[in-house]
Amino acid sequence: MARILITSAIPYINGIKHLGNLVGSQLPADLYARYMRGRGHEVMFICATDEHGTPAELAAAKAGKPVAEYCAEMWQVQDELGKGFRLSFDKFGRSSSPQNRALTQYFAGRLAENGLIGEVTEKQVYSHADARFLPDRYIEGTCPNCGYDKARGDQCENCTKQLDPTDLIEPRSAISGSTDLEVRETKHLYLRQSLLKDRLDAWISSKTDWPILTTSIARKWLHDSDGLQDRGITRDLDWGVPVKRGEEPWPGMEDKVFYVWFDAPIEYIAATREWADAEALGDEAWQRWWRNDKGAADVRYVQFMGKDNVPFHTLSFPATIIGADDNWHLVDYIKSFNYLNYDGGQFSTSQGRGVFMDQALEILSADYWRWWLLSHAPENSDSEFTWENFQASVNKDLADVLGNFVSRVTKFCRSKFGEAVPEDGTTGKRETVLIGELQRRLDAYQAHMEAIEIRKAAAELRAIWAAGNEYLQDAAPWAVFKQDPAQAAAIIRLSLNLIRLYAVLSQPFIPDASARLLTALGCEEAGWPDDIATAVAALPAGHGFAVPDNLFGKITDEARQDWQTRFSGTRT
Ligand code: 2FM
Ligand code: ZN
Repeated sequence: MARILITSAIPYINGIKHLGNLVGSQLPADLYARYMRGRGHEVMFICATDEHGTPAELAAAKAGKPVAEYCAEMWQVQDELGKGFRLSFDKFGRSSSPQNRALTQYFAGRLAENGLIGEVTEKQVYSHADARFLPDRYIEGTCPNCGYDKARGDQCENCTKQLDPTDLIEPRSAISGSTDLEVRETKHLYLRQSLLKDRLDAWISSKTDWPILTTSIARKWLHDSDGLQDRGITRDLDWGVPVKRGEEPWPGMEDKVFYVWFDAPIEYIAATREWADAEALGDEAWQRWWRNDKGAADVRYVQFMGKDNVPFHTLSFPATIIGADDNWHLVDYIKSFNYLNYDGGQFSTSQGRGVFMDQALEILSADYWRWWLLSHAPENSDSEFTWENFQASVNKDLADVLGNFVSRVTKFCRSKFGEAVPEDGTTGKRETVLIGELQRRLDAYQAHMEAIEIRKAAAELRAIWAAGNEYLQDAAPWAVFKQDPAQAAAIIRLSLNLIRLYAVLSQPFIPDASARLLTALGCEEAGWPDDIATAVAALPAGHGFAVPDNLFGKITDEARQDWQTRFSGTRT
């Protein structure tokens, strides 16, 4: 049995995530966690909310709430939605936790001791009316490039030009609108990651089995002329982890917090500690996942994230881990994703474009979405959600192939043999051929899951379902029954066992349907198959079952059009 640590990029706290966010990290991470648990491995699956930084502050201000209260409420909302999508986190933590505060301060202290923190005096915009320094994105003004009058201090949304706040014409505070601004000097801490360049380079180069998407982004940042610059890790804000050197005060840094991107990945560790604390397990319980001197040397650590998060996870966070030089376990594999687009455009949180997690669950339950999203995961290129494609996949894969197989087998059995596995008859060549095919497909399915090739795994699972359907069609027990009821019984006995097998193999993708099937078959404890021949004999003659309710409803043209219209605009 192996030990596998899995983390999903932690979603920003401000607002409900869309399906593009979901398929870029949390959902594939859940698939992998479920599969690995199914295979009997010990899994620790961690996610959390990313609560610090300006977006959280802005969203709280917009909602008219203190930021801590806003974050607590939104954590609840995201936690519920995660449960709605059946995301099986061992812990869904919060980056604002005391555990993350302590660990972030600890890492900063270690980095400072190891000569990897520098102090830099910078000029920054101060707003008298707001009595605070303004981060770049809190400053608005007219873009010098295109004349757009709501350009932000970091970038113009209209022409995409990267800006400095001092480039803006007639700058004003985005908080109060005040133009009473002044450029002042302020001191910040920098992580001197350029000193670790060679070590990071050697480390990335050793990862020859990583997805090209991951390593190509990492290499670009390592080797670009301005790549891997030292990075400011503090901000003049109130909301965040207060800057301390371990447990000691940091002279000159009293009113500052760590930059959100410094503390966010440390939350992976902190959330594991939140888990251990909540279970009253003590330090050993979380450290054995993270510290090589406490048992984590044999852990395989796999991260999931969208491509925009790759630089932070291949360079900055490893720089923190390596720089701390204290036995922390570095990531072993990074699975990254391209973007999912929405119906001819992009999903967009700021513009409210696309389908958001709460809206999705209002119209259909988790399995429908999980199946489509995972079987169309944007692995090798961006992919696109269209309602037509969603309707076609659901109706074909889930309703026609899997659902129909289950329904035909169980209903036929009930009408001819009753609600128990029939006992007569023997299987022959057709069944041997089927078992051979399923064994090959199972091997391929497992190989794709181990390699986290999600689309390929989904295609193989679909083929496994289809093989049962084709077998049933060819074997035609309804026709055979008229001449040879015993032979029909043997076909149905095998088919009922196929349903059990399908429920087990499908669990990582569609956990609700899987649970319903196993309950209907009275075998909730069914484990991962060793081999197909044994698995298809698991349910013995006489074993009772119940015909399950229709597994998946079809999406009608009317419903599809209705949703298409409903989600064509923007969410307010
Ligand atoms: O892109 C995002 O949604 C970030 N909140 C991801 C942070 S992942 C990690 F650093 F914790
Ligand atoms: Zn512009």
